[in-house]
Amino acid sequence: MRLRYPAVLIAALAMLGFVNLAGADAIREFLSRHWQRPLAPQGVPPARFSPLEASLQPEACGTCHPAQLADWKTSLHASSMGPGVAGQLVEMLESDPGSALACFTCHAPLAEQAPRVAKRAGVSTNPVYDVGLGVRGLVCAGCHVRAHQRFGPPRRDGSLASATPRETLPHNGVTRAPAFLRSEFCQSCHQFTSDGFALNGKLLESTYNEWRASRFARDGVQCQDCHMPDRRHLWRGIHDPQMVRSGLTIHASASATRYRPGATISVTLTVESTRVGHAFPTYVTPRVVLSAELLDQAGQVIAGSRQEKVIAREVTLDLAREIADTRLMPGAKAVLHYRRRVDRAGLRARLSVVVYPDEFYTRFFERLLEQGAGRGEAQIREALAATRRSIFPVFEREIPLT
Ligand code: HEC
Ligand code: HEC
Ligand code: HEC
Ligand code: HEC
Ligand code: HEC
Repeated sequence: MRLRYPAVLIAALAMLGFVNLAGADAIREFLSRHWQRPLAPQGVPPARFSPLEASLQPEACGTCHPAQLADWKTSLHASSMGPGVAGQLVEMLESDPGSALACFTCHAPLAEQAPRVAKRAGVSTNPVYDVGLGVRGLVCAGCHVRAHQRFGPPRRDGSLASATPRETLPHNGVTRAPAFLRSEFCQSCHQFTSDGFALNGKLLESTYNEWRASRFARDGVQCQDCHMPDRRHLWRGIHDPQMVRSGLTIHASASATRYRPGATISVTLTVESTRVGHAFPTYVTPRVVLSAELLDQAGQVIAGSRQEKVIAREVTLDLAREIADTRLMPGAKAVLHYRRRVDRAGLRARLSVVVYPDEFYTRFFERLLEQGAGRGEAQIREALAATRRSIFPVFEREIPLT
């Protein structure tokens, strides 16, 4: 993992007064302006802007920033208006437009992306709505452009100022803000506010607070350090096997590998959260299953031999109740102790850890289709199929028990 500044160094410099950690106030103030809900329309672009500079489409930015566009396209931010969201919104925009507009503030936050606007009494059509932009989800401009002004991180050397007069640069240059390097930048969408929806006393989405309470926050490791290493725009998470493996240390062992029939075998599978900067998993929708089972000499699973342990925050489909919360906070581990009398020789123990990134949504979309998804039906079917394809193993091992 590449960290931008060693945390120890920052702490030491702060003590000596060289780094202003009180800049936190300035950062908070910047972010409260940057992430207003809803965002204001961009307005009229500066007269000297070419149509390319005035465009909010990701492909326009990609003409001059091809690396970020190529990364972003593969990210979930680029599909945040995918069929699971869009399929629910078609009917919701008619039946409950207020809630539907709230979805846009995180899934497609620009004023130009929502088909309606909130008015004092109800909602009305949005005069600046751009259909083609709405379907693109969390676009570049959603994070980087306000009133046609570009905002971005400090240069890699930490500097903020432009070398040349800004009017001579494409899109009048960039306003560089340290907030782009901070977890607080992500907080506005990855953390419900304290008056938000909670179950069993815990907010439904609390990634930022989980991070705040972790050793990663104390060590100065930000969301970007893990999710945007080298400033890449990939944002890999629970849907990516390599990312999930990077956060875990998994061990499997047997107390002995030789047993006589009639003996009791003992096998242990341990999943430790070593580099996940929040709860593993942070959200209520994924489910992770540790399992152990016995195979005979022909490789057939011995009936009744399977044992499982679940890591998840399980909630009911109507979000009325939390059933269990077995997620791992940073540093914690889940252990599956498997003990069983074996009645024959030549067995093997098969241990695995399987990730179901969208387990809640599989059940939720099934129910929605049963109840009738209206004009969103085709999209919800597509989203349901995607939740079934997203399942993957992060660990598999067979231990011979001769
Ligand atoms: C015509 C080419 C062009 C287009 C189109 C363009 N940019 Fe830029 N952009 C540049 C150049 C050149 C710079 C470097 C300016 C500087 O050094 O201050 C830059 C700088 C940036 C930076 C700061 C980069 C850094 O190195 O820190 C960000 C962020 C940015 N642009 C975002 C965008 C976004 C978002 C869009 C689309 C809405 C966009 N740009 C469209 C040419 C372009
Ligand atoms: C404007 C709101 C918004 C901001 C700001 C934002 N995100 Fe997201 N992010 C989302 C939404 C919405 C999704 C879900 C997209 C989907 O799957 O439909 C998401 C998805 C993700 C995922 C993938 C989750 C998975 O299931 O694998 C990661 C990782 C992520 N964001 C990290 C970040 C980080 C790091 C930042 C800060 C640099 C950030 N996000 C800023 C709205 C936002
Ligand atoms: C506070 C920001 C926020 C709001 C408001 C919000 N979401 Fe999300 N949504 C997210 C984030 C972040 C994720 C990714 C969750 C994760 O992996 O942690 C997500 C994931 C999803 C997903 C699963 C990914 C996908 O694309 O299929 C669906 C479906 C979804 N949201 C629908 C909605 C709907 C419908 C609304 C409005 C009723 C809504 N969201 C409101 C932030 C938000
Ligand atoms: C979820 C918010 C988000 C979205 C969407 C997003 N960016 Fe960024 N971008 C950031 C953050 C945060 C950084 C600073 C990351 C860091 O320093 O770790 C950044 C950095 C950059 C930089 C500076 C890169 C460098 O090497 O210094 C450019 C250029 C840029 N983004 C362009 C784009 C373009 C073009 C798109 C769309 C294709 C885009 N961004 C989409 C949040 C976003
Ligand atoms: C120390 C590295 C690290 C830090 C710091 C970190 N993450 Fe993660 N994140 C991970 C790993 C590894 C995963 C994959 C495992 C998982 O899903 O929990 C992940 C997964 C996610 C997911 C996928 C959804 C889910 O249910 O797990 C989201 C969303 C996310 N991170 C957002 C954030 C945000 C926002 C921050 C900052 C407040 C952040 N992360 C800080 C390592 C990190």
